[in-house]
Amino acid sequence: MVKICCIGAGYVGGPTMAVIALKCPDVEVVVVDISEARIAGWNSDRLPIYEPGLDDVVKRCRGRNLFFSTDVERYVGEADVVFVSVNTPTKTRGLGAGKAADLTYWESAARMIADVSRSDKIVVEKSTVPVKTAEAIEKILAHNGRGVRYQILSNPKFLAEGTAVRDLFAPDRVLIGGRETPEGQAAVKVLKGVYARWVPEDRIITTNLWSAELSKLAANAFLAQRISSVNAISALCEATGADVAEVACSIGKDSRIGPRFLSASVGFGGSCFQKDILNLVYICECYGLPEVAEYWRQVIGINDYQKSRFVNRVVSSMFNTVAGKKVAVLGFAFKKDTGDTRETPAIDVCRGLLGDKAVVSIYDPQVTEEQVRRDLAMRKVAVTTDAYEAARDAHAVCILTEWEDFRSLDYRRMYDVMQKPAFVFDGRNIVDPEKLRDIGFIVYAIGKPLDQWLKDMPAVA
Ligand code: NAD
Ligand code: UDX
Repeated sequence: MVKICCIGAGYVGGPTMAVIALKCPDVEVVVVDISEARIAGWNSDRLPIYEPGLDDVVKRCRGRNLFFSTDVERYVGEADVVFVSVNTPTKTRGLGAGKAADLTYWESAARMIADVSRSDKIVVEKSTVPVKTAEAIEKILAHNGRGVRYQILSNPKFLAEGTAVRDLFAPDRVLIGGRETPEGQAAVKVLKGVYARWVPEDRIITTNLWSAELSKLAANAFLAQRISSVNAISALCEATGADVAEVACSIGKDSRIGPRFLSASVGFGGSCFQKDILNLVYICECYGLPEVAEYWRQVIGINDYQKSRFVNRVVSSMFNTVAGKKVAVLGFAFKKDTGDTRETPAIDVCRGLLGDKAVVSIYDPQVTEEQVRRDLAMRKVAVTTDAYEAARDAHAVCILTEWEDFRSLDYRRMYDVMQKPAFVFDGRNIVDPEKLRDIGFIVYAIGKPLDQWLKDMPAVA
């Protein structure tokens, strides 16, 4: 039986390996990371990431066939299959800064694999990487290989945070790309054998390496494009009196379009969409395809527009100034059921409000005060432990994450402790505007027909 080691104990490496260990009890799975704090977290009762269902999976196999360690070199050396699930953020400096993927961590992991390997290995790209990364990795390994043979596979992850365990248990598909040589195909078969323990065969797709690498970027670009499309329509709905939920429902009934991923919002966030589209844009530019690059860049353009449109709406509705006014922000994570704040729209919205001198008070059920302060670069904000405290004496409530609990808050209780006129700006369309209007609120909800008040105070985009 194969021995598996995964480099990178993050949002992808941790849950993916835990599920492989659960489904393959006879396979030893070791997750390694250079971060001692992360590994200590995985070995404790308080896992370093919040993900529904994950605690249970980890408890069932940790210490049995699932291990977390900082002894990176030892476990990489012993493994037959090495997954690389390190972070690949957007480059902030040098060539391609602001767009290209930073492969520093990937390259250093590859060099370390070459240094410590004494037996042949299958190296699996789990991180999202630019097309043709496998070729670069092959070169690094081949030039430092000392006779060890490597096969590189691309096996991108399609899990979404908040539903990672569910996605891993029943994936829409597992994608494995490999070289079209006998050795490459043999490696594909080994990895396929691992997934086939619980994933139906017809859901395991095998392709060439470049298709697999590009499919990951393309899938995220398509998903993000749907959100930008519906968000663009939401602006038109507000201008015309149409309701974006009704439009989304109507177009989603067309089986060619489908109903999912059509919720208008304050904007998409998360560690993947923006990073992967920028990466796609950069690759298109490198291959001399500026029109294609521009097409995808616009998906991010609309997302930025949507976030600033929201801030403008808040400020213009409140007599064009929020200076000195308390604004309660409900939700800071980039989506519900996660504590992750990477690229969350809440960062841009809070920065916009703070830029207009608002007094911002934030509540999120999973995001720590420390994290909020880090994300907002220590700017002066209050972080509360409940929604009502955030709303006390506030002029407005902004809902920025679609936490289920926010649907059932006692909005009358909130109204009673707020300044008047009291506003609700729903960036996730989770409250019933009519019910809130009955309480007395002035309500703005993305893409919904506007109150007379809001019509009288048009926002400048
Ligand atoms: P993450 O930042 O949560 O985790 C990466 C981990 O790798 C960190 O703990 C870091 O300490 C570790 N690391 C970096 N260099 C290392 C090295 N040389 N040796 C050992 N450990 C090292 O990142 P993530 O969210 O898990 O994402 C990982 C990759 O998967 C990225 O390429 C991302 O684009 C992709 N991805 C992420 C998601 C998601 O939902 N977060 C989904 C699909 C794909
Ligand atoms: C995404 C992809 O869905 C996943 O397949 C990939 O592996 C990683 O990137 P993730 O970023 O975890 O997953 O979450 P996702 O559910 O895709 O949401 C991304 C952002 O889009 C969130 O901010 C979410 O609130 C927003 N969103 C999603 C909308 O605004 N409207 C929608 O209809 C759906």
